[in-house]
Amino acid sequence: MHRVITTRTKKLDFHTIDHLIEAIKTSKNILVLTGAGISTSLGIPDFRSSEGFYTKLQEQGLDDPQTVFDLEYFKQDPSLFYSIAHLVLPPEGSFTPLHGFIKLLADKGSLLRNYTQNIDNLEANAGIPSEKVIQCHGSFATASCITCKYKIPGETIFEEIRNSELPLCPFCIKRRQKLIKEIEALDDSEQGISRHSFSFLGSTVKRSYAESYGVMKPDITFFGEDLPRVFHDNIIQDVKNCDLLLCIGTSLKVAPVSEIVNKVKPEIPQVLINKDPVTHTEFDISLLGYCDELIVYLCEAMGWKIDHPKVDELL
Ligand code: APR
Repeated sequence: MHRVITTRTKKLDFHTIDHLIEAIKTSKNILVLTGAGISTSLGIPDFRSSEGFYTKLQEQGLDDPQTVFDLEYFKQDPSLFYSIAHLVLPPEGSFTPLHGFIKLLADKGSLLRNYTQNIDNLEANAGIPSEKVIQCHGSFATASCITCKYKIPGETIFEEIRNSELPLCPFCIKRRQKLIKEIEALDDSEQGISRHSFSFLGSTVKRSYAESYGVMKPDITFFGEDLPRVFHDNIIQDVKNCDLLLCIGTSLKVAPVSEIVNKVKPEIPQVLINKDPVTHTEFDISLLGYCDELIVYLCEAMGWKIDHPKVDELL
C-alpha cells in the first residue's frame, strides 16, 4: 500500500512512520499544503499525472495545456476553459477522507493552516473552519464579470458550466441591449458617434471577446494573476510558527506555493504524502501511495477516527 523513502540529509532523527505518527499527535501548529491529488478519489482529475487535466488536453492536441488557465487566453477565447471547467465541479456536498483528516486536525486544535491549491472548495464541504483554509488559487465559491467585476455566488453559473456554456454578466447584457436600442433610435447622422460608444462594449478591436460580452469567470487564480491577498497576509507568519509541514497530493510544480517548503525553518520536519515521489524537493519522509488510504492507516495507528463514510472500507 505504501513505500517510505527519506531523502533529506538527516538533520533530524525523523525518518520512520513512528516518527511521523508521534509528530502528528504532538505538534500544535501543523501546516498542511494540499494539491489536486487529494480530490482525485472523487473523480476530479489532477493536472500532471497520467490521467490528469493537462495530460488529457495534450492528448487532444493542445500544445501548452496550462493555456486553459491563462488569463490573456481566457479573455480572447473563454470557450476553452468552459469546455473543461465542468470536470472540476465536485459532486454536491462531497469531500474525501483526506479532507476529513484536515478537519480532525482543526477539531484537535493542531491545524495551523491548510494552504490548498485546489479550486473545488471541498474544504468547505468537509467543515474545515474557513479561517484555517487559504485557497491559494481561489475557488469556484464565487465568480466575477471580467468586464464590470460584478460578483455572484459560484453556484449561480454551475448550470452553464455543466453545459459548457459561456456565463454572461446580467448587467453587461442589459447595458449592451440598452446601447443597441439607443443606437437604433437615432437617425443616420448621429449613428456614427454612438457606434463608438457601442463599440466600447461590443468592439472586438480594443476589447477582448470576453470583455466585450461581459463573460463571468470563477474567482480562481489564472496564470498571469497574483494570488489572493490572504495568501501574502498569512504565509510569512505561518512558516515561522509551523512545527510540522505536511505536503499532500501535490507535485509542487507551481510557485509561490511550491516555495513554502523552502520557507519553513530547517529544523521543522517536512513530510510528503503522495502517489508519486517529488524529486526536486527533499523531505524527511515521503509516504508514497493513495492519500486516503495512507491517512486512514496513520489515523488507525494513532487511535484517531476520521468522520467520513468511506473510512471503514479503507481500513
Ligand atoms: N493520492 C495521493 N497522491 C495523488 C493521488 C492520490 N489519490 N492522486 C494524484 N496524486 C498526486 C500525483 O501523483 C501528483 O504528484 O497528486 C499530485 C498532483 O499534482 P498536480 O497534478 O501537478 O496538481 P497540483 O500539484 O495541485 O498542481 C498545482 O498547478 O496548473 C496548476 O493551478 C493548477 O493548482 C494547480 C497547480
